Parts: sequence; structure tokens; C-alpha cells
Amino acid sequence: MNLISKRFLAASCLNIGLIFTGFGTSASAEEVEVLHWWTSGGEAKSMNVLKQMLEAKGHKWKDFSVAGGSGSNATTVLKSRVIAGNPPSAAQLKKMDLLEWGELDVLSNLDKVASEGKWNQVLPAEVSRAVQQKGKYIAVPVNIHRVNWMWVNPKIFKKAGAKIPSTWDEFFVAAEKIKKAGYVPLAHGGQSWQDATLFEVIAMGVGGADFYRKAFVDLDQKTLNSKKMEEVFTVFRKVRPYLDKGSAGRDWNLATSMVIKGEAAMQIMGDWAKGEFSAANKKPNKDYVCVPAPQTKDMFTYGIDSFAMFSGRADKGQRDFAMSVMDKDFQSVFNAAKGSIPARHDVDISKFDACAKDSKSAFILAEQKKNLVPSMAHGMATPAAAQGAFIDVISQFFNTPKMTVASATKAIAKAAKEAN
Ligand code: BGC
Repeated sequence: MNLISKRFLAASCLNIGLIFTGFGTSASAEEVEVLHWWTSGGEAKSMNVLKQMLEAKGHKWKDFSVAGGSGSNATTVLKSRVIAGNPPSAAQLKKMDLLEWGELDVLSNLDKVASEGKWNQVLPAEVSRAVQQKGKYIAVPVNIHRVNWMWVNPKIFKKAGAKIPSTWDEFFVAAEKIKKAGYVPLAHGGQSWQDATLFEVIAMGVGGADFYRKAFVDLDQKTLNSKKMEEVFTVFRKVRPYLDKGSAGRDWNLATSMVIKGEAAMQIMGDWAKGEFSAANKKPNKDYVCVPAPQTKDMFTYGIDSFAMFSGRADKGQRDFAMSVMDKDFQSVFNAAKGSIPARHDVDISKFDACAKDSKSAFILAEQKKNLVPSMAHGMATPAAAQGAFIDVISQFFNTPKMTVASATKAIAKAAKEAN
């Protein structure tokens, strides 16, 4: 998905010289152009906080938003802007993409502002590692999203006489009852990144953290091509009949709104979904319930949003931007609206809602128990080439009933080998 191919790297390196000569000519020092993919109701509301903060510092915000959940389109657009020699001042990027851009030496070194702001002290180790390359800060972290959540409409459960599931066996019992009662059991958007999000959550629940790490971080052949992986694909396939017919191509936030509106009982999605509930004025434990996805209690698959700056663009604006993102008040207001928890561990979350508080305690517990793992589907775990190949296999399997579990398992292992 977020693939910067080797060929692209080579071509870009030739272009970098051109890019640098172009720097500073198209944007005034005070104009900060920000590429991001936060376009849903909840996301846009959160992003506005950052915009206002930067404008209060005297800068002009130039919005460069590219719709497409999980950044599926934004990274492609970014590539073409860089190739054209006209990168934005700041771009929303995740760890694995950051590393690829970092290799090209086009990102601003943020060490100075990081040391002034004591980032090393205020960021959890996992977070600061996600925004550094070879010990150097190349991005500023905004938040910590928990991916392995399930969002529940309790009224539907009540009407169907079903129990909120904590295992996959319980999930299928509940889903059957909900279907019989005339509701959609699982709201899902059939876009490949959403298929992959569901798949990785099942992998974590069925296989556990070690299995997950070996498969998606180490790309270990034995783990990818294993009976356990077959089990994961089997559960994944079993979920399919509990989606509605309209799921193909649906955006994630529209799936969330099916749960909000009482059309669907559950959605398995990261806590950016909570931003949609909040934007619709819905309250946790009243209008909706957040629970860990089946079999992932005390586990935490994370996505960390961060912004990288392109060298030579609006230096003062970039510095103020980085400082604003790390500002404690900003992290508090932004993350309360976005659904995530602050990237800084010293932000008071006592006024956050129950789901955010659960997320923070799950993060701490998962870290202690070694159950804290980076998300494959959200660009934190797997190099872009392998991630893209994994997502293709996962989506193809989900949408091709005649593809067997055994062949999908072989295909995912082969995909890792070929991408490496
Ligand atoms: C990002 C979130 C975003 C979600 C949907 C995830 O990859 O981390 O910030 O809200 O995609 O676009």
C-alpha cells in the first residue's frame, strides 16, 4: 500500500538535487502546508485543533488533505509531489514509511526541538523509537491508537438476547443470534486495509503476541506457513457471512455509523472509530460499549500517527508545528476528540472517557506482559513491500470463496519471501 519501491528510491535520488534547488521558492516561510488523511467527521474535528494552534502562532495553514482511510491514497499523492520537486512542509507518515523517506535524506532532523522539548523523557520508549531513525528524530508523534478494539451497540445485543463476546466462539454464537434478530452482526468496509485490520486482530487473538511478532515483524517463514496461520484464516473466513451485502468498498466511518445508528451490532476497528461516536455526541457505556476484540484482552496492537517535515520548507513554521504537536494541551484536546491516547505519557487523562482510560491501562499492562505489538495493517510493523503483498493476499482470500485456507497460508509466506 505505502510502497516506495526500490526503483522509485533510485529515481527519487536523482531527483532530490532538483527538489532542493526548488525549495523555498513556492511557499513563504510562514505558510505551513500539511498533508494528512484526516477527513472523516471525527478526524477533521481533531485536526482543526492543530490548525487553530498553528494559526495562533502567526502561521498560515495550507490544508492538503487526501481522503482514504489508513492513508491508502495520501502516500501515493505524497510520492508524486516529492517527485515533482514540491513536497509539503509536513506530512502524516507512519513508522515504516518514515524509515523509507528517511533513507532518502529528505526529512528534517528534529533533534534540536526534541532535545529542547525533552522528548526522550516524555515519550514512552515504543513511541520515541517509532519516530527515530538511527537515533535521530525524523518525525513528531501525535498519538497512540489501539487497533484491537470492538465497538458495540448494546441495544442490539439486548434485543437479540446475545452476550458481548470475548472469544471467537462466543462471537459466532452472538453473531448468529443478531443475524436472526434482523441486524447486521459486523459492520465492515470492504477495502483492503480494513480487511487487513480485521485479519491482524484475529491473528493476535488466535495466535497471541509471539506468533503475531514472528509473522508480521520478523516475517518468519515457519510462522507464516504454519497450522496456526491456517487457524487464523479459518476464523477470518467464518466471519464473512456476518457482514452485510453492501460492505464492498465502504469507508470505515460509514461502517461505524451503522453501529451508531443501530443497524449493525459490532465493528472491529481502531479507536479512531471512537472519534466518530464522539462527533455524533454518543457516550461510552451508554450509547455504545468498547471492548477488546475477541481474545485480545490485555493485548495492544498500536498505530502511532506522526508528522515528518520535508527539509528546506518553512523552517520556522516546521519548528512551531513540531512544538505545537508536542504541546501538552494540544495532545490532551486533540486525542480526546480523535479517540486515541496522547503520545506523551505525562498528559493528564483523568478527564478522558472510559475507553481512553482502558486504552492507557491496556498499553501499560501490555508493555509489561510483552503483549504490545505494532500494527501490520497500519504501517508500524512490516516493511511497505511485504505489507502490500500481505494485504493483497488477505483481501483476495476474503473475497474469493474458492481460495482455500491452505493456499492462502502458502501465499502469505511466499509474499513475505518475495518482498524481502
Ligand atoms: C490512522 C488514524 C486514522 C485511520 C483511518 C489509521 O491508520 O492511524 O489516525 O484515523 O487510519 O483513516
